Amino acid sequence: MNQIVDPFNRKITYLRVSVTDHCNYRCHYCRDEDHQTHTKKAQVLTFEEIARIVRLFAELGVTKVRLTGGEPLLRKDILDLTRMLGGIPGLSDIPLSTNAHLLPAMALKLKNHGINRANISIDSLIPERFKEITRDGDLETVINGIDAAISVGMKPIKLNMVVMKGTNDDEIESMIEFAINRGLDLRFIETMPIGLAGIEAVDRHLSEKDILERVYSAYGDRLISQDSKQTDGPAKALKIEGTNTSIGTISAVSNNFCSSCNRVRLTAKGELILCLGQKDSVSLRDAIRSGMKDQEVKQLILNAITKKPEKHFFDSVVDNISNRQMVEMGG
Ligand code: GTP
Ligand code: 5AD
Ligand code: SF4
Repeated sequence: MNQIVDPFNRKITYLRVSVTDHCNYRCHYCRDEDHQTHTKKAQVLTFEEIARIVRLFAELGVTKVRLTGGEPLLRKDILDLTRMLGGIPGLSDIPLSTNAHLLPAMALKLKNHGINRANISIDSLIPERFKEITRDGDLETVINGIDAAISVGMKPIKLNMVVMKGTNDDEIESMIEFAINRGLDLRFIETMPIGLAGIEAVDRHLSEKDILERVYSAYGDRLISQDSKQTDGPAKALKIEGTNTSIGTISAVSNNFCSSCNRVRLTAKGELILCLGQKDSVSLRDAIRSGMKDQEVKQLILNAITKKPEKHFFDSVVDNISNRQMVEMGG
C-alpha cells in the first residue's frame, strides 16, 4: 500500500482542499479590511481537476479530504464535486469547514451527497458583535445553518470559535452552554499570525492556558480528558460529563502541534501548500495542465513532501507568511 511519509516521519493522510478563495464574510483576523479576491475562473481548479488530484492523493494513502474555502459553499454546483469525491476509493472521511451562512438551504443536499459532518466557524452569540467580527455576517442565519446541519443528522458538528482578548473572550462560557444545549463539540482557537489580518490580531491573542483556565473554572469537576487518538485534527479534547459535548483547544502558537502534523493543503488555484505557517508550495495545477500523467503527478507530490517543513515559526518569524491571506488557505 502506498503512503506519503515526510522527512520527519509523519504520515500524510489528510488533505485540506480549498475549493474557492472567495468568502461571503470578511472576519477581521482572516482577511485584511480592503482585501479583494480577484481570482479568475480559469485560474481555479475545475472539479474534474480537484477530483483527479484527490484521487492521486487517495492512491498515495490519504483517507480524509476536508472541503474548505474561503467559503466552500459559494462554489456553485459543489454537490457535483462531493459526488465525484464520494466515488474515490480509499476516502473514509469528507468533512466540510464552513461559516454556515448557506447551510439553511444546503444542509440536506450536502448530507445526501456524502457530507456527514461539518466544522462551523462562530465567534460570537451577540448579533451586533458577530456582525462586527465578520464585517457584516448575520448571526441568525448562521444559527439556522447550524440547526439545519443538526436536523439533517450531520455528526459530529464542531463549532470553531477564534477567541480574542477584549473582543469575545467574555463569551467562552456562553458558547459552551450553546454547544451543550445543541449537543455539539466546540473548539477554542488561538489567533495565528497569518497574513496582515492575522498579525494584527496578535494584540488580542489569548493563550490556550488562559482559555482553559476559564473553561476549568466554569466546568472543572465535569471535564474528562479524551484520548488524543479520537481526534486526528490538531484539537485536544475534554469531554463534559453528562453532556454530548467535548471542548477542544487549537493552540498553534502557545503549544506547537507540528510534530503530529498529518496534513497538506491544496488551494483553489491548485497550489499544494506544505505547511500553513511556511511559504513552501508547488503548483499541481500547472503540472496537470502541462499534460503530466498520473504517475508523474504522484511523483511530483512525493517530491514536494520531501520539502515539508518541520514546523511553523509563529512565535518568531511572521514575515515569511505575512503576504498570505488565511481566506485563501482554508484555515
Ligand atoms: P477535524 O478533522 O474535525 O479534527 O478538523 P480540523 O480541526 O482538522 O479542521 P478545521 O477546519 O475545523 O480546523 C480548525 C482550525 O484549526 C483551522 O481553521 C486552523 O485555524 C487550525 N488548523 C488546522 N490545521 C492546522 C495546521 O496544520 N496548523 C495550524 N497551525 N493550524 C491548523
Ligand atoms: N488565526 C486563527 N484561526 C484563523 N482562521 C482564519 N484566520 C485565522 C487566524 N488569524 C481560521 C478560523 C476560522 C477558519 C475559517 O479559519 O478557525 O474559523
Ligand atoms: Fe471568516 Fe471563514 Fe470567511 Fe475567513 S474564510 S472571512 S474566517 S468566514
